[in-house]
Amino acid sequence: MKVTGGFEILTRLSFLVTQLTLAAGNSVVVVTHENLEEILVSNELVLLSFYTDWCRFSQILAPIFEEAASKIHQKFPENGRVILGKINCDKEEELADKFDILKYPTIKIIRNGLISNQEYRGQRSVEAFVQFVEKELLDPIEEFHSVDELKNAEVGNGIVIGYFVSKDHAEYDTYRKVASLMRNDCRFLVGFGELTKDLRPPGKNVLVYRGDPSIPNQKDYYSEYSGNMTSFKELTFWVDKKCVPLVREINFDNAEELSEEGLPFVLLFYNKHDLGAIQEFKTAIQRHLADENRVNFLTADGELFKHPLYHMGMSMGDLPVVAIDSFIHMYLFPRFEDINQPGVLKKFIDDLFSGALHYNFHLALEAQEKSESTIDPAEFPPVAHESKFKELKPSKHRYTLINRSKDEL
Ligand SMILES: *[C@@H]1O[C@H](CO)[C@@H](O)[C@H](O)[C@H]1NC(C)=O
Ligand SMILES: *[C@@H]1O[C@H](CO)[C@@H](O)[C@H](O)[C@H]1NC(C)=O
Repeated sequence: MKVTGGFEILTRLSFLVTQLTLAAGNSVVVVTHENLEEILVSNELVLLSFYTDWCRFSQILAPIFEEAASKIHQKFPENGRVILGKINCDKEEELADKFDILKYPTIKIIRNGLISNQEYRGQRSVEAFVQFVEKELLDPIEEFHSVDELKNAEVGNGIVIGYFVSKDHAEYDTYRKVASLMRNDCRFLVGFGELTKDLRPPGKNVLVYRGDPSIPNQKDYYSEYSGNMTSFKELTFWVDKKCVPLVREINFDNAEELSEEGLPFVLLFYNKHDLGAIQEFKTAIQRHLADENRVNFLTADGELFKHPLYHMGMSMGDLPVVAIDSFIHMYLFPRFEDINQPGVLKKFIDDLFSGALHYNFHLALEAQEKSESTIDPAEFPPVAHESKFKELKPSKHRYTLINRSKDEL
C-alpha cells in the first residue's frame, strides 16, 4: 500500500465508545450509519461489504459471505477480534460516499478502527475469506530471541526492527498498529529487554529500518526513526517511505490495486533472463526521479505482459522496453539506454502531463496521412497505442461499476 495521497481518508474515528455490548454473532452484521463507528472501533479486524440488492455480483457474494462469517466465528469466537459486516449502499448513500465506493461489491478492510483504502480483492469463496482472516489476525510483528536470529533475518525488500524495553508500553502499541496496517509492505521484528539493551539507550525504545542491500546507491538503507514514537500517523508515513519502494513489480495479483491508485504507469518490460535491466531502471529512477510522485514506477515481466508489448509492436527480443500507460494511451519511450541520461525520462513524463506526447502523436499521424512528413524520423515522434493496462482496472465481470460523480449533479 502506498499511503501518500490516500492517507487523508485514513482517519481514527474519534469518539468515545460507550458500553461495548455488541457481540460478534455468527452471521454477517447489518451495518448502518448508527452502528458503524461502534463496530469499527471495537474490533481488531472488520471486513465490510458494500453492496446493493440489484447488483448480481452482490447477490452471488451474499450467501458465501454469510457462510464465511459463520466459519470465522467458529475459529475466532472472542469478542473484539473480527466481524464481517454489510452495508446496503442504496440505503446508506452517505456511507458509500464516505468510503468512496465506485463498484459493487467492494469489501473494505478495517483494522483497529482505522479506515484506509485497503480492500479485499481475493477470491470470493468461503475458504479464501477464512484464510485471509487467519492471516490478517496473525501478529504482524515477529519476536526474535537471540542476536544471531536477528543477524540472520532475511532482509528481503526491507525490514523494520524494534528494540523495546518491554511489550507493555504505549510506544509498542503504536508500533503494533502501524505494523498491522503495513503488514503487506514490510517485515516487522522486535526484541525485548536484556536482549536488546546494548542496542538502545537505557530505558528507551528504538526503531530502525534495514533496506535491501542489493540496491546500489540506496540513500539510507539503514536508518533510525527519529520521530514521535506514539504518533500513529508519523510512524506510518516513515514506514511507508522506507518500505514501499519507488519502483514496484506489477503482476496480476496487484494490478487492480495499483491501477486504482489512479496514477499513470511508467513501466519497464524486462526479460526475466536478463535481470540487469531491472537494477539499471531502479538505479536510474533513484538517481534522477526520486521525487517524482505523479506516476507509479513499475517493472513488468515481459512474458507475463506480452499482450501490451505486442500491442506496441514489440516482442521479447526487443526487451528491455520502457513505456507509459496513462490508462487512455500507451507511449513507448524511444530508447531504453536514455534512462541514464539526466532529464530524458523526466522530459518524457513531463510531456505526458503537458499533453505534448498526445499532441505530437496527432501531429505525426497527420503528417503521415498527408505523406509529406516534415518530422525527422530520428526524432522518434511518440507513437500512441490504446491503453492495455486499463483492462486491469476493476473488471465488469467481477463488479458492478458505478459513476459516483453523477450523484453530485
Ligand atoms: C506524539 O504524538 C502523540 C499522538 O499523536 C501526541 O499526543 C504527543 O503530544 C506527541 N508528542 C510530542 C512530543 O510531540
Ligand atoms: C459515467 O460517466 C461518463 C461521463 O459522465 C459517461 O461517459 C459514462 O458512460 C458513464 N458510465 C456509466 C457506467 O454510467
